[in-house]
Amino acid sequence: PKSVEKNGRMTQSDIYDWTSGFFPGSLWYLYEFSKNDTLKQQAIHWTALLKPIQFFSGHHDVGFMINCSYGNAFRITGDTAYRSIMVQTAKSLMKRYNPKVGAILSWDADKGWQKEKGWKYPVIIDNMMNLELLFKASQYTGDSTFYKAAVSHADKTMQHHFRPDYSSYHVVDYDPETGEALHHQTAQGSPDSSAWARGQAWGLYAYTFCYRETGLKRYLEQAEHIAQYILQHPRLPADKVPYWDFDAPDIPDTYRDASAAAIIASALADLAKETKGDTSATYRQTAETIVKNLNNAPYRATLGTNQGFILKHSVGSLPHQNEIDVPLAYADYYYIEALMKLRK
Ligand code: GLY
Repeated sequence: PKSVEKNGRMTQSDIYDWTSGFFPGSLWYLYEFSKNDTLKQQAIHWTALLKPIQFFSGHHDVGFMINCSYGNAFRITGDTAYRSIMVQTAKSLMKRYNPKVGAILSWDADKGWQKEKGWKYPVIIDNMMNLELLFKASQYTGDSTFYKAAVSHADKTMQHHFRPDYSSYHVVDYDPETGEALHHQTAQGSPDSSAWARGQAWGLYAYTFCYRETGLKRYLEQAEHIAQYILQHPRLPADKVPYWDFDAPDIPDTYRDASAAAIIASALADLAKETKGDTSATYRQTAETIVKNLNNAPYRATLGTNQGFILKHSVGSLPHQNEIDVPLAYADYYYIEALMKLRK
């Protein structure tokens, strides 16, 4: 399950779509909460379908796909067969790491709609999320290659994706030979200089786990700066569910993105654990405020509607006219994850 079309029909992803791990991941969280065996059997089934991804390196999103499904499966069951698949996936992801750039290639520049952009080595802010799998693979195998690549990617992104106000560009295109940043653009935001809401959320989430995994203070500082950018933004609505882009030209007459809000809530729950005192309390309270707001109208669907998705009002990609103001599997995943973290 991926989303719902305007005509009410559910859309689904094949296993190679970047979203394929979110439904199995949600099932694992729901099983962890309920201990319901039917949910466990379904989680096992939907996770197993993704097994071929361990050898896939056609795009960068395998971190999302396998960490959300197999990562939760291993965390909850302790079954090392899940862990082996995570490690093999990390090896496949490393095929997209170019040491001359010091970052993982997001999209192949010579295929699909990306080709028209003329990019050489596009790296998107979302790619930061794949690093969690590399940190885990390093921990599981003792092979520091994964760790070093993750740190290099995080540093390179910190250097080139972020503006002085700690908002981030969506796409940075590099020279694959010299590693020089050539273009700063967007694919899912608007315009190129904008702060696409989900991109800011990915950055916040990822620099928080980069700090947790490495203990490097620069990542904590980065996460806190991003949190500040988001939470103090004059165009963040009172309910803290962002518009799809902080710089969307038609604010307030445009769409909210519940998926960005859910990711921010989950990230803030983590950031609260990495910080102390009033700062920590503020992050935790803000995460709680966001999930409480998502739990009410207009965001939460009534039981039996919305094709079973929990949340309404997310945006996939407005510039591509794709999935606008709809439910999305990843909005539900990060919402459930935020609830689980806050409960703990
Ligand atoms: N990684 C794609 C997205 O956030 O839409």
